[in-house]
Amino acid sequence: MTEAVLLVGGKGTRLQPLTINTPKPMVPAAGVPFLAHQLARAKAAGVDHVVLATSYLAEVFEPYFGDGSAHGLRLTYVHEEEPLGTGGAIRHAARALDAGASDPVLVFNGDILTGLDIRALLLRHERAQADVTLHLTRVADPRAFGLVPTDADGRVLAFTEKPRHPHEIVTDQINAGAYVFRREVIDAIPAGRPVSVERETFPGLLAAEALLHGVVDSSYWLDLGRPASFVQASADLVRGIVHSPAVPGEPGEYLVLPGARVDAGARLGGGTVVGAGAHIAAGAEVEGSVVLDGARVEAGARVRASMVGAGARVGPRTVLDGAVIGDRSEIGADNELCEGARVWCGTAIPDAAIRFSAV
Ligand code: GDD
Ligand code: MG
Repeated sequence: MTEAVLLVGGKGTRLQPLTINTPKPMVPAAGVPFLAHQLARAKAAGVDHVVLATSYLAEVFEPYFGDGSAHGLRLTYVHEEEPLGTGGAIRHAARALDAGASDPVLVFNGDILTGLDIRALLLRHERAQADVTLHLTRVADPRAFGLVPTDADGRVLAFTEKPRHPHEIVTDQINAGAYVFRREVIDAIPAGRPVSVERETFPGLLAAEALLHGVVDSSYWLDLGRPASFVQASADLVRGIVHSPAVPGEPGEYLVLPGARVDAGARLGGGTVVGAGAHIAAGAEVEGSVVLDGARVEAGARVRASMVGAGARVGPRTVLDGAVIGDRSEIGADNELCEGARVWCGTAIPDAAIRFSAV
């Protein structure tokens, strides 16, 4: 039996307004809640029991995923009344695990899309006889992540979460948000108070000379914490650049869900997904974007790398590029919303009210 804890309690602040009514892992990517991709990938790697560590908007997970049987897994929900942080959440969730003291337990951040070979990570953990094994990846700018330098054998030398000073940036290897813990290491995390696994548990284990083993992996990896990366992840899933068994269709340039209407003369591409009940009018172009259920993109609108919320409307000839339109918002005709624009849910923008100029 292989067990995993999935951390899904964060507030997803950087993804607002997508995460005002929906927790980050439930925001749809490539046609299904993002969490469905993580569960499907875990199952494909042989995981059969997943404990969801919930906090923010916890009530929406269970009605969708139930006991997990429809997804071929056993799912258990463990809810924190007050958010306990990453380490506190892992400790709290451990009550639902069956693993014995020396058995491996997988732990995943709930907002990472990766092609990581999960079985290989488990094997490396066993071979190294580590207390904790960490999936690491290399990024161009590591400052927003946990920095994890290792020695030639993969032994973790330090763990610096979101370094503040340039001299702390000693590596481009970062914590990629997937771990294998020996069960008893989880049980040693203090219970009943917030604990950050990144700021407290890992540095504490290193100080106590525990064996933390890092596995640097160069497969696909993306943190979905920001709207641009969320939209990118959805497009990459649709195009099959990263594989998920949960994508409801074959890989291709676009994915149109049952019940959506795309008029002849509309152009879709770049991994766009169009949700149930959505309508793309003739002459509209939608590239690399997520159009959620019941949204409308009207004639001559051009939408690129954007997210159009459920029930929202994008008026005729309006241009969206790198924008997020909250659920039920109404964007009138002839607007331009670009790079990072975020329209809160239920907002009405009149015709020709907003223009974007790069100069
Ligand atoms: N249950 C629960 N309770 N889950 C939580 C809590 C909590 O109090 N706080 C955060 N989480 C979950 C989030 O939902 C997310 O899935 C995961 O823990 C990590 O939290 P983020 O808020 O997304 O952290 P981050 O992206 O700034 O940094 C983390 O991920 C990076 C990789 O993307 C750290 O683990 C970094 O070290 C790492 O590099
Ligand atoms: Mg994150």
